Formats: sequence, structure tokens, C-alpha cells
Amino acid sequence: MKHSILGALAVGASIAAAQSNSTTNAFMQSCAAFANSTQIPNSTFITATYVPAGTNLTFPNADPSCTRTSQLVNTAMCRIQANITTSSTSGLSFEAWLPQNWTGRFLSTGNGGLGGCIQYEDLDFTTSLGFASVATNNGHDGMSGRFFFQNPEVVEDFVYRAVFTGITVGKNVTQTFYKKSLTKSYYLGCSTGGRQGMKMVQDFPDLFDGVVAGAPAMNFNNLNTWSAHFLPVTGSNTSDTFVPQSLWNVVHDDIVAQCDDRDGVKDGIIEAPDLCPYQANALLCSDTVVAPNCLTQKQVATVNTIFSDLKAPNGTVLYPRMQPGSEKTGAFNAYYNGQASDKSDWIKFVVMADPNFDLTKFTPDLWAKADTLDPFNVATFKGDISAFQKRGGKLLHYHGTMDPIISSENSPRYYELVRSTMKQEPAQLDDFYRFFRISGMGHCSGGPGAHYIGNQRKQLADPNEPENNLLMNMVRWVEEGQAPDVVAGVAFMNDTQGGQVSFTRNHCRWPLKNKFSGSGDPNDAASWKCVSYNNTTPQSSEIVNYVPSSSQGTQVFISGYPYFCSGSRYE
Ligand SMILES: *[C@@H]1O[C@H](CO)[C@@H](O)[C@H](O)[C@H]1NC(C)=O
Ligand SMILES: *[C@@H]1O[C@H](CO)[C@@H](O)[C@H](O)[C@H]1NC(C)=O
Ligand SMILES: *[C@@H]1O[C@H](CO)[C@@H](O)[C@H](O)[C@H]1NC(C)=O
Ligand SMILES: *[C@@H]1O[C@H](CO)[C@@H](O)[C@H](O)[C@H]1NC(C)=O
Ligand SMILES: *[C@@H]1O[C@H](CO)[C@@H](O)[C@H](O)[C@H]1NC(C)=O
Ligand SMILES: *[C@@H]1O[C@H](CO)[C@@H](O)[C@H](O)[C@H]1NC(C)=O
Ligand SMILES: *[C@@H]1O[C@H](CO)[C@@H](O)[C@H](O)[C@H]1NC(C)=O
Ligand SMILES: *[C@@H]1O[C@H](CO)[C@@H](O)[C@H](O)[C@H]1NC(C)=O
Ligand SMILES: *[C@@H]1O[C@H](CO)[C@@H](O)[C@H](O)[C@H]1NC(C)=O
Ligand SMILES: *[C@@H]1O[C@H](CO)[C@@H](O)[C@H](O)[C@H]1NC(C)=O
Ligand SMILES: *[C@@H]1O[C@H](CO)[C@@H](O)[C@H](O)[C@H]1NC(C)=O
Repeated sequence: MKHSILGALAVGASIAAAQSNSTTNAFMQSCAAFANSTQIPNSTFITATYVPAGTNLTFPNADPSCTRTSQLVNTAMCRIQANITTSSTSGLSFEAWLPQNWTGRFLSTGNGGLGGCIQYEDLDFTTSLGFASVATNNGHDGMSGRFFFQNPEVVEDFVYRAVFTGITVGKNVTQTFYKKSLTKSYYLGCSTGGRQGMKMVQDFPDLFDGVVAGAPAMNFNNLNTWSAHFLPVTGSNTSDTFVPQSLWNVVHDDIVAQCDDRDGVKDGIIEAPDLCPYQANALLCSDTVVAPNCLTQKQVATVNTIFSDLKAPNGTVLYPRMQPGSEKTGAFNAYYNGQASDKSDWIKFVVMADPNFDLTKFTPDLWAKADTLDPFNVATFKGDISAFQKRGGKLLHYHGTMDPIISSENSPRYYELVRSTMKQEPAQLDDFYRFFRISGMGHCSGGPGAHYIGNQRKQLADPNEPENNLLMNMVRWVEEGQAPDVVAGVAFMNDTQGGQVSFTRNHCRWPLKNKFSGSGDPNDAASWKCVSYNNTTPQSSEIVNYVPSSSQGTQVFISGYPYFCSGSRYE
């Protein structure tokens, strides 16, 4: 009896193995045959290759500034590469990664910065969750903006056409390959990828059922004016207006001393930086405030300008101030180090249209030039997204509150623009649009906060579990109607994913703010509540002192951008 059960099990197992192998063989064959049998619209087919799980793909010809030379592939898939023409003087590289274990879902990834780079780590992350996933090089290779110079077709690709084309062609390729209609379509991107997602919501509302847009580079023209205004404000590192890193550390401590207790816990993480109207005046050198921990009048003015909104002459806010806190996560190297960087390539190659333009000469009064040019409506700041709402789309927007590249205060501004334009209150917007502030997160990842939220392959554990994973949370919202009230985040000890958990925190949706409930362990998300509170300092008895034993990311630099992350590259 015992033996026969074991025997039956053994037979069953070998049948399963044989079946799964014949499935694999059929999949391999249909992948190989695809290149020969299929016409991809407007394209030159390059290749269709079966890639077994565990393959380490290498990209020897990738532009070095993309800093992506290899990618470990975690699930078996058919990799399709093509070149697609977008005009007589422009085109893009396209990839579709079609997993053997397809769930019927389609997903488009996005890009970063002014790139130019296929985000292979996103293709791997999403295909291993069963999405048929696509990516493009955004119409040019590498992170430089020099390809935009006198080439409006390449600019048009960057603004919307590359990602749009990748999506329409990608849907076609997906359905042709699997010989089935896709069930739902999703978008996942951060930074420029966040702007691309918002662009689709604003201008191509029918493309997606669910869009996850992080740290979106919206209000793009003024964002670039803002990015370029830091150099004239700080001056070079020999100028008397310059504030060295050592003094930014002093400024950070002052910010934390002034603002960190509003949320009830002194942990170096300010839950609501909008409630921190920081100015550095108290650090002015005097009899009691002395060197090396004080600032000159000119240095105080530099810091105060950085923490003030950038305004048009008539007082209209063009771009919000840098939010306090990000001086801890790399803002110095991004913007305050007294050097021009390729983050100002848009100003140089598009706005000023002068490859030799001296960026120290870019003053904020040139903002109107950037704003008026607005090629192909790159601004991406339309408040009316009712067409997306009407088609049943869901939008999940997030932004790290220690983002040193794109001020996180631009994100609530967008939410409030949608709210006032569409005349819907948060209770109504909640139906299709939710915005979450991720406290202590840097630019798309990293930072001292609970930034493992599953916007990338960075989550607590099983990525299929929506509670661990922002993307699967979106899937549950679209497919089961269960909307996320909070975004669960984890901080790992020493920022080591999969290691010891340092603390958890549930990030709140705007306009609610996270506040310590007054009892319990501040390390535990359950001790916090999403509530409404304003600029009142809690009683000292209500404040918990707590130094997280966590999670400072390693800072690395990639083509002049600081990244706080352990492993993957982002901006
Ligand atoms: C499964 O198929 C692959 C590819 O044809 C082959 O290399 C492998 O030996 C097969 N495995 C088994 C257990 O039959
Ligand atoms: C595809 O076409 C190429 C060149 O014509 C040929 O060498 C190859 O065997 C074909 N592959 C398949 C799977 O039909
Ligand atoms: C192919 O290109 C033409 C002209 O550029 C365009 O009108 C058409 O929509 C493209 N087809 C697809 C499927 O993208
Ligand atoms: C993949 O190969 C590259 C180049 O040989 C190597 O640097 C990288 O460490 C490999 N990655 C993995 C996960 O093995
Ligand atoms: C695809 O485009 C790249 C440049 O982006 C070019 O080097 C390559 O030769 C093209 N391949 C084909 C098959 O057209
Ligand atoms: C497909 O998914 C199933 C269940 O999750 C898993 O057992 C199987 O190994 C996967 N197959 C491939 C080829 O990834
Ligand atoms: C893909 O595009 C081609 C060419 O435009 C078209 O003939 C075909 O019907 C499309 N297939 C699907 C599944 O959309
Ligand atoms: C100042 O900037 C120059 C480049 O402009 C750089 O070479 C130098 O190392 C910087 N000095 C300090 C102290 O950072
Ligand atoms: C102020 O200037 C901005 C930018 O030109 C313009 O959009 C806005 O309408 C102006 N506001 C007033 C009150 O004039
Ligand atoms: C974290 O890093 C510190 C200093 O490098 C080390 O002493 C400690 O053991 C690490 N903790 C964990 C949990 O990895
Ligand atoms: C905080 O301020 C906002 C805007 O002024 C107001 O709508 C809200 O009711 C205030 N909340 C509390 C708890 O005072």
C-alpha cells in the first residue's frame, strides 16, 4: 500500500517533469520561429532568443553611461529585440521580454534622467512576476542630452513617442506571440519613468489599466530651470557663497532639531517635510554660534534660497523649494558641489541650444524661455486626468521625501492641481488616484527610511504578496477593486535586503500624515497612524527619542548623479 502510493507519486512527478519539459520545448520553438514568421510594425527585427532562468545576460555594446553591463534573468523567457523607426531621422531600440509563465498581463517599463537606457533590472523584476514586459532606449543611447541638439525628432521621442511606440508595438508583439489577447496592462516607472507614466495618464488615457509613477519629473521645464539654478546660487567651491559638505551636515542637524519631532518620533526621518519651513538664520556665526559649526551671512542666504520656492517675477511658484532632509541623501553631490553636471543638459542642448553654454550663466530669469519652449508639452503637468478616470484607470503615485534630485514637494502640488482642476476631494480622487509620500526614501530608492516597497526588486519577501509589493498592490486594485490604503515599507539593517529587518512603516496617502500613536515600538508600523495634523509641536512627553539602527544606503555616483541604493541603479 505504502509502496504503491510512493510509486504513483513517482510516476506523477515524472509525468509532470516531462510535461513541463515539452512545454519548455514548445516555448523555445515558438520563440525561435517568431523572428522569421513575424513582422513587427515599422521595425527591423534583430533577434528572438529563448533565455532560460538563471542566465546572466551581458550587454557588451551598451553605452557605458547606462552602467548596465549585465543582468541576471530570474525566469525563463523569450527575448525579442528590434529597432523601430519613428521618423526619417529618429528611431529606437526595443525589447520585449515574454515570460514562459505568462499571466496574461502586459507591462511597460520607463527610463531615467535624460536617458537613453533600457532598465533591464525592471524587465527582469516584472517578467519574473509574470508580466510580458517591454522597454525602449527612449530614442537615443546613454544619459547625455547631446542627441537633442538640433534634432526635434529625438526630442519628440524623449517627450512621449518612444515610450508610446514601445507600448503600442509591445502590445502587438505580446498578443502575436502568445496568440491570445492580453488581459490587463500596467506601467511601472520612476523619475523620468514617473513622468512618462504621468504623460500616458494625461495624454493617452486608454493605454493602461494601472500606472505606478514614482518621483515623476513633472513640471519638467521648471524642474530643469530649478536644477540649473543651484550652480549660480552656490557659486563654485571657491566662492564666498559656497557651502561645503561639512556645513551641510550642520544644516541637516539643525533641520532635524527643528522639525523631526512633529511626527512624534525623533529618528532622523521627517514624515511631513512640508511642515518644516526651514531657514538657516540660527546658524549665523555670532558670539555664541561659532566656527566650524556656523555659516556666514552669504552662506545663510545660499541655504535659505535653496529652501525657498523658485518664483516667477509676479510671485507665482515655478518650482517648489528643495524639501528639507535631502541634504542627508546626496543633494550636495547632485546640486550643491559648485560644478556643472549633465543634469543641466536639457538647458544646454534644448533651451539654450548651445553645446558650449556656460551653465554658471544660467540665471532663473531664463525660466520663461524654458517654459515657453515646452517642446511637445514636455511639462507633463495637466490637472485634468478625467479621461483616465472615466476609462477605469488607476494611478498610484509615490515620492520619497528625501529625494535629492526632484523635490518631493512637487508631487503634492500635482495632486492639489488635479484636485482643484477636477473639483474632486480626496475621498473622490481616492477612487482612482492615490499619492503616497515615502518617508526617508531618496530618489526612487535608498535613504534611511523604510524604502523597500516593491517598486523595484526591493521588498520584504515574497513579491507575489501585494502587501510586500507596490506593483502587485496595483494589480490587486485593478483586478479585485481593493485599493491600497497605505504602502508598506521595510528598512533593513545596514540597508542589506533580506537581512535583519530594522523597522517597518506604513506610508500614508496624501493628504494624511504619519504620526506615532504615542505608545508601542516606533520600529513597528502598527505603532503609527495616518492622521491629519498641522504645524504644532507635540508636548515633549509625547516625543520618543529613537535612533534607527538601520539603513544608510551606500552612495555611489553614476554619470554625475548620486544614487542611494544597494545594488540597482536608478534615477
Ligand atoms: C528537457 O528539454 C531540454 C531541451 O530540449 C533538454 O536539454 C533536457 O535534457 C530535457 N530534460 C529532460 C529531463 O528531459
Ligand atoms: C530563421 O531564418 C534563418 C535565416 O533565414 C534560418 O537560418 C533559421 O533556421 C530560421 N529559424 C527558424 C526557427 O525557422
Ligand atoms: C508606423 O509608422 C507610421 C509612420 O511613421 C505610423 O503612422 C504608424 O502608426 C506606425 N505603425 C505602428 C503600428 O506604430
Ligand atoms: C554576470 O556577468 C558579468 C560579466 O561577466 C559579471 O560581472 C557579473 O558579476 C555576473 N553577474 C552574476 C549575477 O553572476
Ligand atoms: C539597430 O540600431 C542600432 C543603433 O541604435 C544599430 O547599431 C544596429 O545596427 C541596428 N540593427 C539593425 C538590425 O538594424
Ligand atoms: C511557472 O510557475 C510555476 C508556479 O509558480 C512554477 O512552478 C514553474 O517553475 C514556473 N515555470 C517557469 C518556466 O518559470
Ligand atoms: C500587429 O500589427 C500588424 C501590422 O500593423 C497587424 O497586421 C496585426 O493585426 C497586429 N496584431 C495584433 C495582435 O495586434
Ligand atoms: C573644487 O572644485 C574643483 C573643480 O571645479 C575640484 O577640482 C576641487 O577638488 C574642488 N575642491 C574641493 C575642496 O572640493
Ligand atoms: C504670473 O506669471 C505666470 C508665469 O508667466 C503666469 O502663468 C501667471 O498667470 C501670472 N499670474 C498673474 C497673477 O499674473
Ligand atoms: C551592520 O554594520 C555594522 C558596521 O559595519 C556591523 O558591525 C554590524 O554587524 C552590521 N549589522 C548587521 C545586522 O549586518
Ligand atoms: C491643517 O491645515 C489644513 C489646511 O489649512 C486644514 O484643511 C486642516 O483642517 C488642518 N488640520 C488640522 C488637524 O488642524
